[in-house]
Amino acid sequence: MMFPDRIKIVEVGPRDGLQNEKASVPAATKIEFIDRLTDTGLETVEVTSFVSPKWIPQLADATEVFKGIRKKPGVHYPVLVPNETGMQRALEAGVKEIAIFTAASETFNQRNINASISESLERFAPVMEMARAHGIQVRGYVSCAIGCPYEGDIDPAQVAAVAAELYDMGCYEISLGDTIGVGTPRRARKMVYACARRVPMERLAIHFHDTRNQALANILACIDMGISTVDASVSGLGGCPYADGAAGNVATEDVVYMLHGMDIDTGVDLRKLLETAKWINAELGRTPTSKLARLDIDNALDATKRPKKSSSQPG
Ligand code: HMG
Ligand code: MG
Repeated sequence: MMFPDRIKIVEVGPRDGLQNEKASVPAATKIEFIDRLTDTGLETVEVTSFVSPKWIPQLADATEVFKGIRKKPGVHYPVLVPNETGMQRALEAGVKEIAIFTAASETFNQRNINASISESLERFAPVMEMARAHGIQVRGYVSCAIGCPYEGDIDPAQVAAVAAELYDMGCYEISLGDTIGVGTPRRARKMVYACARRVPMERLAIHFHDTRNQALANILACIDMGISTVDASVSGLGGCPYADGAAGNVATEDVVYMLHGMDIDTGVDLRKLLETAKWINAELGRTPTSKLARLDIDNALDATKRPKKSSSQPG
């Protein structure tokens, strides 16, 4: 197997995770959460979404949260933007990087953003114009990249076509979302392979939800193909409000543990990440989804790497 020396992790917990929390989370908690995440060494933390509060009331405080976070130099703080209204709000809040989002499934797109795939792309054209005018970097998401809760299996060629449209519009990176976590390694690779024929591999990211415990296996299969950007959510927070039963993203700590154990660098301090996982779960009053975050931290960190006590010590 050929693995890269470094993987970029895009932390999506504050957005993808908290967009789906039933209880409302105070803005101050979200701000502290994001600041703690950047203190772990994560270089990209997706903060929130400037979407309609009627659709996602959990993120109605987007402006307050974005303005409240500490902007650590060198860290990217993207936000989701669905239309021109969202872009205007994001600009007013001082956002420097956004993500636009569509899907490879027509039905999912209607339910999620009230638009067909081609309507959504038309809607993004003026957003891209505004982004260019303000020097804002744009990431693109393709949801239902493997399966759709309404349409079933999705053809990899369809995913590749949507990914190529977003790339050609000027997105610097395309994140391929297994929104409902149906993928398995061979299907994941087939989909990434189709996309890599249209978009350079180094411009593709993978975004696996862990509904069926396949996310880590899928990530391993895809980084072996040359993928070097992985989306994850601390403690596996989240789901999708328009995909019934979808679990959260793969837990960031699981990804970091696996990669560091394979001598692949992420720049993340796993101890601090686990402390943050425990902290946010206590704040939300929930049990961590990831097994790693349920363990005592010293036990969670790789026991095999702890220095062995020397038996020849005196006394
Ligand atoms: P619509 O109802 O068709 O929009 O929704 P509209 O233009 O008719 O506007 C309806 C109302 O919302 C109006 O207010 C607008 O002003 C307002 P009213 O006149 O009724 O008082 N409005 C807004 N307010 C604030 N910010 C805005 C905004 N836009 C309109 N940006 C729309 C269309 C796209 C707005 C809506 O469907 C929406 O916001 N959808 C967001 C859904 C969402 O966030 N889903 C989750 C994220 S996607 C995801 O999780 C997948 C991903 O993780 C990858 C993966 O896992 O696959 C990315
Ligand atoms: Mg998602």
